[in-house]
Amino acid sequence: MKVANQSFRTIWPDSSCKFVHIIDQTQLPFAFKIVQVHSLEQMVKAIKTMQVRGAPLIGAAAAYGMALAMLENESDDYLLFAVKLLINSRPTAVNLAWAVNRMVLALQNAPINRRNFTAWREAAKIAQEDVLQNQRIGQHGLAIIKNQYQDKAFNILTHCNAGWLATVDYGTALAPVYAAHDAGLDIHVWVDETRPRNQGAALTAWELGKHGVPHTVITDNAGGHLMQQGLVDMLIVGADRVTSAGDVCNKIGTYLKALAAFDNNIPFYAAVPSPTIDWSIANYKDIDIEERHSDEVTAIQGLAADGSIQSVRLIPFESSAANHAFDVTPARLVTGIITEQAVFAPSELHHSNR
Ligand code: MRU
Repeated sequence: MKVANQSFRTIWPDSSCKFVHIIDQTQLPFAFKIVQVHSLEQMVKAIKTMQVRGAPLIGAAAAYGMALAMLENESDDYLLFAVKLLINSRPTAVNLAWAVNRMVLALQNAPINRRNFTAWREAAKIAQEDVLQNQRIGQHGLAIIKNQYQDKAFNILTHCNAGWLATVDYGTALAPVYAAHDAGLDIHVWVDETRPRNQGAALTAWELGKHGVPHTVITDNAGGHLMQQGLVDMLIVGADRVTSAGDVCNKIGTYLKALAAFDNNIPFYAAVPSPTIDWSIANYKDIDIEERHSDEVTAIQGLAADGSIQSVRLIPFESSAANHAFDVTPARLVTGIITEQAVFAPSELHHSNR
């Protein structure tokens, strides 16, 4: 996607395959900063601190983390060390483990002294596949929107950030939005702020603005009211993991939006590339839900009057806080799952496993 008329992806290797560039998402929307990642350790830190985030992007970042590891040491021992570090960096989004396992498969089939070369090639493939999958999700999503579109502003509500910043390019939930906007449809997006880290207010709003898509940031509690008022035509969210039964694990708060959508008879879609589907899990209770540091709840980050990015405390010093980062929307509340192949009812999702 474009920033100031220049095309960017969220992650790309240096031309000599010695390091990786990322967009530091902790600085957005106030600063657009490109950072170089030079080692496995730095990549693990970038994932943990959410300089890179979003399920498909942390998959690609982990793949490049493996490539950086192979630059450091091509041995079996170091390979296993890298796998452990990366897989434990963020547990919920299955794309990360999927990408690491795919890298392991490619590397185990390569001669040890070719592992470095193989790793960079495979990581680039994973990144490129994500871009193509998201483009296709955009086209399938566009068809659904066109189906319901009635020559007046079409309102889509989304939660968290599942746009191009959460992927290598185009986004998942926002790919249909960009496709519809680019096709000349009158699209408006309600952007849930998405406490505690505000990925909606900071990231979704920023990238929609850069693309010229009309949008309005709302508090996380406002969606139900807007739905009752007839101001939402469709919900589209991304996902960190979808079970084989079609349950959708996504950023905390998604479930409440799905309940309100169901009550108001508004379609609720999850847009996911196939690496986000975890065929090994049928029962959503088996998903490891990441609990992040309570600091993200007790404080909030924003732009201070002097232009610096600062964090301020929100709650009494005596109070404790909990930070469950994801929740699960049961399949019964999901209208459809938009993949790169097609749109599937949750009960039909198994047809996409080929
Ligand atoms: O904690 P984050 O910011 O990595 O969470 C991201 C989300 O929950 C996204 O909705 C999800 O990863 C889908 S991204 C295409």
